[in-house]
Amino acid sequence: MEYLDKVLNESMRMYPPIGSLNRKCTKNDVLLHGNIKVEEGTLLFIPVYSIHHDPIYYPDLETFDPERFSLEARQSRPKYTYLPFGDGHRVCLAARFARLQMKTGLVHVLRHFAVRTGDAGRPIKYFKLPVQVTPANVDFESVERKLVR
Ligand code: HEM
Repeated sequence: MEYLDKVLNESMRMYPPIGSLNRKCTKNDVLLHGNIKVEEGTLLFIPVYSIHHDPIYYPDLETFDPERFSLEARQSRPKYTYLPFGDGHRVCLAARFARLQMKTGLVHVLRHFAVRTGDAGRPIKYFKLPVQVTPANVDFESVERKLVR
């Protein structure tokens, strides 16, 4: 189960179901990193997908490597570099429940089916709209066009 946990983490590192987060600044402030002024009312876009694919934090980022989530590896990364469930006051309310569900589902599949790797390359990709990480064979180009209209 410990390894399954790492596999789950690495899956959501490569394919975070929600690829970005939003926040609204409630008081004038200055971001610690970069000394950037942020005024009250400013909308902030947090690029989760890009953070999860930043080679500074995740070298060799296209390699699926559950060991990125060993205790030592996790402790070596700064805070907020892994955000599949968000963070802070509005963190996913059911993060633990969701993890339990995913693990239970996987255990059932692996117990009852033989699973092998496919040859489809990268099967999931990130779409700008609707800001979700989605199977690559879904025709989201047309969905994006409809949403923009
Ligand atoms: C893999 C499954 C899931 C993922 C990746 C996920 C991810 C997220 C993310 C990224 C947020 C926004 C957090 C933020 O802005 O900091 C969120 C919020 C939330 N999630 Fe999930 N979620 C999952 C499953 C679930 C499930 C199963 C439930 C309910 C049974 C749930 C309930 C909620 C609720 C209520 C919020 C809003 C929390 C708030 O704004 O105070 N999520 N989730």
